[in-house]
Amino acid sequence: MTENVIEMREITKKFGDFVANDHINLTVKKGEIHALLGENGAGKSTLMNMLAGLLEPTSGEIAIKGEVVKIDSPSKSNSLGIGMVHQHFMLVEAFTVAENIILGNETVKNGVLDLKKATKEIKELSEKYGLAVDPSAKVEDITVGAQQRVEILKTLYRGADLLIFDEPTAVLTPSEIQELMVIMRNLVKEGKSIILITHKLDEIRAVANRVTVIRRGKSIQTVNVAGATAEDLAEMMVGRSVSFKTAKKAAEPKDVVLSIKDLVVNENRGIPAVKNLSLDVRAGEIIGIAGIDGNGQSELIQAITGLRKAKSGSIKIKGQEITKMTARQITELSVGHVPEDRHRDGLVLPMTLAENIALQTYYKEPLSKKGILDYKKINDYAKKLMAEFDVRGANELVPAKGFSGGNQQKAIIAREVDRNPDLLIVSQPTRGLDVGAIEYIRKRLIAERDKGKAVLVVSFELDEILDVSDRIAVIHDGHIKGIVKPEETNKQELGILMAGGAIDKEVSHV
Ligand SMILES: Nc1ncnc2c1ncn2[C@@H]1O[C@H](COP(=O)(O)OP(=O)(O)OP(=O)(O)O)[C@@H](O)[C@H]1O
Ligand SMILES: [Mg+2]
Repeated sequence: MTENVIEMREITKKFGDFVANDHINLTVKKGEIHALLGENGAGKSTLMNMLAGLLEPTSGEIAIKGEVVKIDSPSKSNSLGIGMVHQHFMLVEAFTVAENIILGNETVKNGVLDLKKATKEIKELSEKYGLAVDPSAKVEDITVGAQQRVEILKTLYRGADLLIFDEPTAVLTPSEIQELMVIMRNLVKEGKSIILITHKLDEIRAVANRVTVIRRGKSIQTVNVAGATAEDLAEMMVGRSVSFKTAKKAAEPKDVVLSIKDLVVNENRGIPAVKNLSLDVRAGEIIGIAGIDGNGQSELIQAITGLRKAKSGSIKIKGQEITKMTARQITELSVGHVPEDRHRDGLVLPMTLAENIALQTYYKEPLSKKGILDYKKINDYAKKLMAEFDVRGANELVPAKGFSGGNQQKAIIAREVDRNPDLLIVSQPTRGLDVGAIEYIRKRLIAERDKGKAVLVVSFELDEILDVSDRIAVIHDGHIKGIVKPEETNKQELGILMAGGAIDKEVSHV
């Protein structure tokens, strides 16, 4: 008989009156990869946070290897051999990789932190599992993908037997995802067990043994993954069939709204990340930027939205030079921005969701009058957008941090799209969204285009780029390697361009 590493029995978790988990049952066997599947806000992270010692159940019990335990702190969770890689990383940006990994688990020698010994151990672990990191780099200077590898190393460093991955691939590039799959397989081969939360059905099919479906706080069923199609899984989760391809008519591009010429933007260390980049985006079209993480796309978007200064070159929005403008001035030119990092640039987590939805417009009528905020209007406006964009949670007065990751993302998209901007810039628009929400957001982006908006989408998901774009601009090493049409290309070709290679046909450059 296979040993159960963990049994969650009849777990209920309430936040006030709101029932986030409703008598959930979950059993994980030793050596298996067990997927958790459910819509945004279904209660997956909440359930896992109870294993991680961040929350305690309102009722129900947890047994580890047959014994009932009380997990009342993260250190208790660690001591029981549980390690969690969270949906939103919990790293200290100003610290180095090594410091972050040993934080809270310090190796002390004669009263001093033995950083040398720890660095050696980290190196060994990172080689063993293929998790490339530079222990001496500062976390704020490394890519999101590398930050995740730090989180994984942190759990391994603490000797976790059960690893929980909360949407680990949402922030990874396709090749990093392949690497992570290999890492996960290696981990279970060594007898570790994994709980994997992901919205990507192909990933579940590729690595998971079993999947438990959670819908609106209840565990619906646990099934073997073998034999289940993506359509089956989607339907089990959402309760209806989902379309994976968005219907759209041909674009009718009009005037240039965003015009970038010979742009140079430095990254944090003062080295150019965007190198003489030129690109035009017209009203009524969606330009998708495809590229491998770290090829300048973040710096490009930050420069367009005023979050980072350009070093040289020009960015014009509706004919106006914006390189010297502040983020607020750019927003006022009718620019919407869904940022790549929703916690750093998208939301003020302790503020209510309603306040977050009003973040760009609160100082203007109708949300305020003569400098006085009208909270009734602000809250009503939030309620309206939450209904329209299906932002699920207890209510609009809950702080943004009390919303699930996917619902936070939907709230940002709602705020930025509803302002009706002439130029809409979206980075990783559907990161962390469930298949039903992805279907809706992509339709909505296309609807904005059809209204004559200029839309610039950055995404690591080639399926997404191919689905929504009218033209695809491939970025490599800080400049546009070529512009191709989705109907005339495919993932392989895009992959070659993204890697800096040449393809056997003409590509345009503006
Ligand atoms: N601290 C809190 N206060 C109030 N409500 C909360 C709190 N934490 C979570 N919730 C609510 O519990 C529900 C479940 O959230 P959870 O984060 O577990 O969802 P999820 O399944 O992980 O979703 P996603 O796929 O979007 O990450 C959500 O509706 C969320 O708003
Ligand atoms: Mg979650």
